[in-house]
Amino acid sequence: MIEPSDFRTTTMPLNHGVGHMPVLGFGTLIPDAAATISATRDALKAGFRHLDCAERYRNEREVGEALQAELAAGGIAREDIFVTTKLWNTNHRPERVKPAFEASLGRLGLKYLDLYLIHTPFAFQPGEQQDPRDQSGNILYDRGVTLLETWRAMESLVDRGKCRAIGLSDISLDGLLPLCESARIKPAVVQVEAHPYLPETELLEFCKTNDIVFLAFAPLGHGIRPGPIEDPVISVIAARVGQTPAQVLLAWTVQRGTALLTTPRTAARARENFDITALPEDALDEINRIQTRQRFNEVVKTGSPGFIPQGS
Ligand SMILES: NC(=O)c1ccc[n+]([C@@H]2O[C@H](COP(=O)([O-])OP(=O)(O)OC[C@H]3O[C@@H](n4cnc5c(N)ncnc54)[C@H](OP(=O)(O)O)[C@@H]3O)[C@@H](O)[C@H]2O)c1
Repeated sequence: MIEPSDFRTTTMPLNHGVGHMPVLGFGTLIPDAAATISATRDALKAGFRHLDCAERYRNEREVGEALQAELAAGGIAREDIFVTTKLWNTNHRPERVKPAFEASLGRLGLKYLDLYLIHTPFAFQPGEQQDPRDQSGNILYDRGVTLLETWRAMESLVDRGKCRAIGLSDISLDGLLPLCESARIKPAVVQVEAHPYLPETELLEFCKTNDIVFLAFAPLGHGIRPGPIEDPVISVIAARVGQTPAQVLLAWTVQRGTALLTTPRTAARARENFDITALPEDALDEINRIQTRQRFNEVVKTGSPGFIPQGS
């Protein structure tokens, strides 16, 4: 449990002693290029110092542009920002990992990454087509590479010094355990969907015991309604503590000991989602007692993106 403090400056240490991750992360899964630039700049202006990107989002160039603009405007240095991006499923073959990493780095306009994640444990047929499918629409998987082989190539990136830490996303505890046993460099971060309807308690406990940062995406349940954002328990607590439902969900997420990613797309939402305040113990208990169970993103089952937000 993270003690109530100023969440805006709270960080979690990474297990290789290579740095700290700010718990409040801004996610860049935004389909529109112009909206990516404005939302990223607004997030940085609001105070977010952790950016989550991915080759798959096809907007690393725009995130990089926004980041460079804010760095040039002064007041923030590159070292103040924690930047993550992710290796897509079509690049799991070991010989494709370094080129994919370098290409992401180039698009972001950066010299190093704080964190590089394997986006999903599913390897797709290698190539330029991000979502390769057969004529019946079935995904074309790549059975010729194992997750451990991809991980070994990720470890080499750390050895070369351009990537401080590595981790996994959309992985189950069953998938994580054997990798942790065989890894030379243990995963620093695991990024998965988590919110009161999908608390992932077992995975969280494993991460805490093994010094792995648990990074929750969809803390607002992707904003899908009905969902946690309009759950009656959350609404009642929000009214009682004088916060918005989004702020209540984000505070609960941090107070249970995870970092988070959220995607506010306006300046006002960025400030709202960054300026969160600790909830009292009884409110945390009430949220922990919510019984509804729902996963909003099916990517964890097939590797195929199960949720792409609508363009704005
Ligand atoms: N590893 C993976 O497979 C994976 C999958 C999905 C996401 N991610 C990462 O996680 C990040 C977080 O995305 P998410 O969709 O999971 O974030 P989220 O914060 O749970 O949901 C974002 C949605 O919530 C709404 N929202 C944001 N702030 C709000 C507020 N203050 N009040 C009410 N509604 C609000 C937004 O609405 P509007 O549309 O109105 O702005 C948006 O539709 C992504 O950007 C990406 O970096 C990773």
